[in-house]
Amino acid sequence: MADGRRVAVLGAGSVGCFIGGAWQSAGIPVIFIGRPRIARDIHEHGLTVSDYSGWSSRLDHVDFACVPAPLADADIILVTVKSGATEEAAREIAENGRDGALVISFQNGVSNVDVLKRVLGDRFEIVRGMVPYNCAYLGQGRFHKGVAGAPLCVEDRARTRELARRVGAGPAALKLSDDMPRIAWGKLLINLNNAINALSGRPLLEELQSRDYRRVFAAAMREGLELLKRAGIRPAKVGAIGPRLLPLVIGSPDWLFNSVFIKSWKIDAKARSSMSDDLAHGRKTEVDHINGELVQLAQQLRIDAPVNRKIVELIRKAERGAAPLSPADLRREILGR
Ligand SMILES: NC(=O)c1ccc[n+]([C@@H]2O[C@H](COP(=O)([O-])OP(=O)(O)OC[C@H]3O[C@@H](n4cnc5c(N)ncnc54)[C@H](OP(=O)(O)O)[C@@H]3O)[C@@H](O)[C@H]2O)c1
Repeated sequence: MADGRRVAVLGAGSVGCFIGGAWQSAGIPVIFIGRPRIARDIHEHGLTVSDYSGWSSRLDHVDFACVPAPLADADIILVTVKSGATEEAAREIAENGRDGALVISFQNGVSNVDVLKRVLGDRFEIVRGMVPYNCAYLGQGRFHKGVAGAPLCVEDRARTRELARRVGAGPAALKLSDDMPRIAWGKLLINLNNAINALSGRPLLEELQSRDYRRVFAAAMREGLELLKRAGIRPAKVGAIGPRLLPLVIGSPDWLFNSVFIKSWKIDAKARSSMSDDLAHGRKTEVDHINGELVQLAQQLRIDAPVNRKIVELIRKAERGAAPLSPADLRREILGR
């Protein structure tokens, strides 16, 4: 049974429509705010959310707006725009949102919450969230969670506790944590693969099955771990394997990785990183907010981060139209051997 407190999804794309759709299926009133392209698809086909386990729910009545005005009716606002659009989203919340509303950033990267706090000040309660799984738009209003994985994570506050209760145990269940900054860094290390996936031009599963791509991923992670150690940041474990062990697992030989680890991650054959989608659609990627965060951290520490710096450079080239790189070419470009 729906209760009155309404959730607005600001940036209704892959993540926003999946979470919003799953929560509406659980009885929560949701308003989606996004672009006309998605609005048209949903108007025509309804909104369908599904996951790797075969669960699916179709919603025929969906409140979808292409302007920010309905933010005024929301008690809870989910920010699900890409990191480059956070500042504009924050201004829209400032202009339209209801004072005191709870704002949850379900974005990758570590600095979006800082941007929201800078623009919104203390008029809103701003908390960090984390999406530990892949969500993809399959067209015709269908949004799919393509991997198994832990539940959505959010800062433990009185209002997020109440929200978690309302969401229940469904496919977009909420787990509460009092360790979100460390979780965001742990997730950032895993997201280092987004750029490699985008540069490969291949589905996630196929990319991860290639050891040369994984070698680059493992090198980017090792570099990140070293930087975080120097900066006194301890990234949290996100998923089944802790951050220290992950580069070893990622860099393991194909016979081991492909027969043991990858199977336990239950990745859909078609899943791709959202950075890969950005390149495919000619959009600017979030690389500055992922690998670029490590490059910036290295600059603050007055050292170089050559692996992540080169990955950022290759993504820039790809944004200008450079072709995908084979596993051996990417390894040579980044690792020089
Ligand atoms: N997709 C995943 O698997 C996944 C998993 C975990 C975390 N994440 C993170 O979640 C965040 C969202 O990713 P996503 O893949 O869902 O992105 P997405 O599919 O591009 O969805 C964002 C949508 O918001 C729209 N938008 C941007 N600014 C807006 C505004 N001011 N008002 C209304 N709509 C606006 C975008 O339109 P335009 O394209 O026109 O700007 C786009 O349609 C990112 O930080 C991403 O790293 C994604």
